[in-house]
Amino acid sequence: MKSLLDILDLDRKELQQLIDTASDIRKFPGKYSHACDGKILATLFYEPSTRTRMSFESAMLSLGGGVISMADAESSSSAKKGETVIDTARVISCYADIIAIRHSKEGAALAAADKGTVPVINAGDGGHGHPTQTLADLMTICTEKGRMEDLTIGVAGDLKYGRTVHSLISAFSLYSGIKLVLISPEELSLPRYVIDSVVTPNHMEYIESRSLEEHIGDLDVIYMTRIQQERFEDPTAYGRLKDSFILNGALMASAKDDCIVMHPLPRVNEIAPEVDEDKRACYFKQVANGRSMRMALIKMLLEEAQKDPIGKEIGLASRAARLPEPEAKKHRCKNERCITYSEPSTEPIFVTEDGRHYRCAYCERTLALK
Ligand code: NCD
Repeated sequence: MKSLLDILDLDRKELQQLIDTASDIRKFPGKYSHACDGKILATLFYEPSTRTRMSFESAMLSLGGGVISMADAESSSSAKKGETVIDTARVISCYADIIAIRHSKEGAALAAADKGTVPVINAGDGGHGHPTQTLADLMTICTEKGRMEDLTIGVAGDLKYGRTVHSLISAFSLYSGIKLVLISPEELSLPRYVIDSVVTPNHMEYIESRSLEEHIGDLDVIYMTRIQQERFEDPTAYGRLKDSFILNGALMASAKDDCIVMHPLPRVNEIAPEVDEDKRACYFKQVANGRSMRMALIKMLLEEAQKDPIGKEIGLASRAARLPEPEAKKHRCKNERCITYSEPSTEPIFVTEDGRHYRCAYCERTLALK
């Protein structure tokens, strides 16, 4: 049984398979309309969502399956009474064959997958990751640019809290010839852990910049993001940074004729409405691609669960060596945004790639071991 907690739970071959299936779904939807007959998807959303939740639900219904949904889990579920994510996941596993969860805490989807007994899909965990948005993004790049390699990709906006960016950059590490231009205010630059865990080990080429104008003419893909107001501790900082980058018609005049403009949506002010009419604007195509990719993903995970209902592959914890359990229990992750911090009954899991540096498997922050 496999879950999708982090985009790197999928290898390049599996990503290509998903893109191929999603393309086939777009061409021949009828072929898939009974692919998940009798199966139930539970959507468990503790944070606001329009696209992602409805996209999952529409995807499952189009596969012939059923949906049970908790749209406002933070205030209307037993979370309000103090139930932990792991208990909720155990319970929902009795009602559904697959779970899509969105939560404000980093690593919440891993916590759910660790104790749940059905595949879990991370539909966004705090400012950490959002792998199914990346599936939509990859399909869009592949379809619109015809390739995933040898591209100069500018990612602009909130690179610190923007979870779609973290997952997207992780996925790019699987492809060669990608040059990243990371455009953000200094305070919102890409977190150290993303640089250390994917960018540096994969020798990814990147530059950091404070200016979209300076680089727009070099970019094959312009990936705009919203400044993530809900993750700011200091509201005045949000006020100062919120309009840092605005892509408008005048700026688009300096962009390549064959570049594409992407955005995970919702947008606030980052892309002026006039850009919508530009043939290079692809953000609404991303939405459609997201639904097809989620269909392909649900189908794949349910098929894998059928083949192997017991074995579990869960995120980082299955890709890197784990600190033995008795030792792990002696440590705590110090990241206040991590699910293990707010829900201490969650089992601590620390992993290492080099046998020396350990990271929390939930939020990926480095753990200093004495
Ligand atoms: C993104 C998210 O939730 O992280 N939205 C989405 O799922 N398409 C982006 C955002 O909220 O800025």
